Amino acid sequence: MPCMTKLQFKNKWVLVTGASSGLGAEIARQLAANHGANLILLARRKDKLEQLKSELEENTGNKVRILIADLSKPTEVDQALKDILTDVQLYAAVLNAAITHFGQHRDLSWDEYETMLQTNVHAIVRMTNRITEHFENNNREGGLMIVSSMAALIPIPYQAVYSGTKSFLLGFATALRFELKNKNFSITVFTPGGIETEMTEGEKFNDLRNWLTPVSQVAKDGLNAFQKRKLTAIPGFSNRMGNLLFKIAGRKFVLKQMARIYRKSLFNR
Ligand SMILES: NC(=O)c1ccc[n+]([C@@H]2O[C@H](COP(=O)([O-])OP(=O)(O)OC[C@H]3O[C@@H](n4cnc5c(N)ncnc54)[C@H](OP(=O)(O)O)[C@@H]3O)[C@@H](O)[C@H]2O)c1
Repeated sequence: MPCMTKLQFKNKWVLVTGASSGLGAEIARQLAANHGANLILLARRKDKLEQLKSELEENTGNKVRILIADLSKPTEVDQALKDILTDVQLYAAVLNAAITHFGQHRDLSWDEYETMLQTNVHAIVRMTNRITEHFENNNREGGLMIVSSMAALIPIPYQAVYSGTKSFLLGFATALRFELKNKNFSITVFTPGGIETEMTEGEKFNDLRNWLTPVSQVAKDGLNAFQKRKLTAIPGFSNRMGNLLFKIAGRKFVLKQMARIYRKSLFNR
């Protein structure tokens, strides 16, 4: 630590998970258009990935592969990793795929709870372990970015498990970075606040809509931090101020206000 050179994605293979919509799709678009990267796009929805692959190939001329995998299933995670690490010389990976639940924690069934833990935590740890091992063993240059959330810093009532998963990722990946021997490989944790994506669509989020940032801006900030090999990055002035307020005003006060605002938006009470 710290790594020497900035990441240079041109003509290099970059994996983006959760590339069929939202932040993942936008990161893939910007990696191809602004950085000249070749891409492996991973998600479950084949039609969306094929659409994005055609769009990127037409607009940029870069190479694009798609990989269909359900990351809530460990066997599919392992198969995807095997395909990626044998098919291409991987330079970088953005582990972005995740799901959430907006609502009372008690309304989440055990199966839904497990699926979220598998997708948001297990899959990311499994992929991080394997990718890190790959770069440590061959001493190649590269980078890994894990998409966490502001919910890792300020836990969100009515998104309790989600907040827990995102906190886990922040602790796990920032600690791991300081165990790395390969000085040309870095791990970055990106913690965005609310973004306009499929995740925040729908009536439930109506009262919170003015907190959301356009996805293109968030993707740009994320890629900038990744390229500079930052340890962590919070995009946007208001998110950074929110984080400061949380520290100054105290957890109890801020969480009480958050719970009130979310309750109103979710249940109109
Ligand atoms: N939106 C926000 O306000 C916000 C705020 C902070 C952080 N984030 C984080 O940003 C990242 C992207 O979220 P987003 O807002 O772009 O959400 P999104 O539009 O819902 O995209 C989520 C992506 O994850 C993929 N995915 C979900 N479950 C999967 C599974 N089991 N296997 C493989 N892929 C799976 C989805 O693809 P398929 O459905 O095709 O599989 C989709 O491409 C997430 O890590 C999220 O926690 C979002």
